[in-house]
Amino acid sequence: MAKELDGTVALVTGASSGIGASTARRLAREGASVALVARRGDRLAELARTIQQEGNVARAVVADITTRAGAESAVDQAIAAYGRLDILVNNAGSMLVGPFADAPEGEWEQMVGVNVLGLLYMSKAALPHLIEAARADPRHTSDLVNISSSAGRVARPGTAVYNLTKFGVNGFTEALRQELQAARVRVSVVEPGSVDTELASHTREELRAGVQAQVANIEALRPEDIADAVAYIVTRSRRVAVNEIFVRAAAQSW
Ligand SMILES: NC(=O)c1ccc[n+]([C@@H]2O[C@H](COP(=O)([O-])OP(=O)(O)OC[C@H]3O[C@@H](n4cnc5c(N)ncnc54)[C@H](OP(=O)(O)O)[C@@H]3O)[C@@H](O)[C@H]2O)c1
Repeated sequence: MAKELDGTVALVTGASSGIGASTARRLAREGASVALVARRGDRLAELARTIQQEGNVARAVVADITTRAGAESAVDQAIAAYGRLDILVNNAGSMLVGPFADAPEGEWEQMVGVNVLGLLYMSKAALPHLIEAARADPRHTSDLVNISSSAGRVARPGTAVYNLTKFGVNGFTEALRQELQAARVRVSVVEPGSVDTELASHTREELRAGVQAQVANIEALRPEDIADAVAYIVTRSRRVAVNEIFVRAAAQSW
């Protein structure tokens, strides 16, 4: 049976865990050949095997996207493997929680490095290929999807730098959307609320209990809930541009 994304290629950053892994698997089920990008090659190889066992197409692409060379190599490897790029999901991210005044500078650098610079380097490297794919069969459109956060809409104490990066992603997405409209590259943003992944586990140990307490009373979203939102965006007809999807956990008030 024909699938919506047959004949297309998707690249998902941060595919070694959480939302990225789930999104990559979902896009492969929709028919895309998927490049799985992250630093942990063993995790990517395992996911590639799982996707292949489901009868779909994926390959691991090990890269650190916080450098321009790393991001360019990720895109180059996807193009070398599949010959085109129709969908970029900028999902890789880092969230290190804690009051700004006490945070080691390395924490800001890590968040800005992956959430902002990584997303910019990946977008720049992918754009010529997305523009080309938008001119071609089978869809005559292409997609750049940025994974922001409810923290890109709502600022709270303890997440100041994370808020800075995700508010920035939202603004960048809207400007780029307008820049690329004529080329028929659809640029969109997905803003997840609280999702059950390993994201918060990288916060300093002494602050982790506080982070967990904040979400203890709500049933978190699952990675596949966000994969659903991405799949909805990229499987629309070329006449439809879903610019933004904000998905909170149902019991999440912020
Ligand atoms: N979980 C939530 O509640 C939540 C809520 C809102 C938004 N988000 C956003 O959703 C996205 C995915 O997060 P998640 O919750 O799925 O967290 P996660 O499980 O920790 O996944 C983060 C991913 O980013 C990758 N990554 C980190 N640094 C990288 C680098 N330098 N180069 C390449 N890949 C890198 C990690 O892979 P490696 O370590 O293998 O490189 C991992 O695959 C992030 O942008 C996050 O801000 C999450």
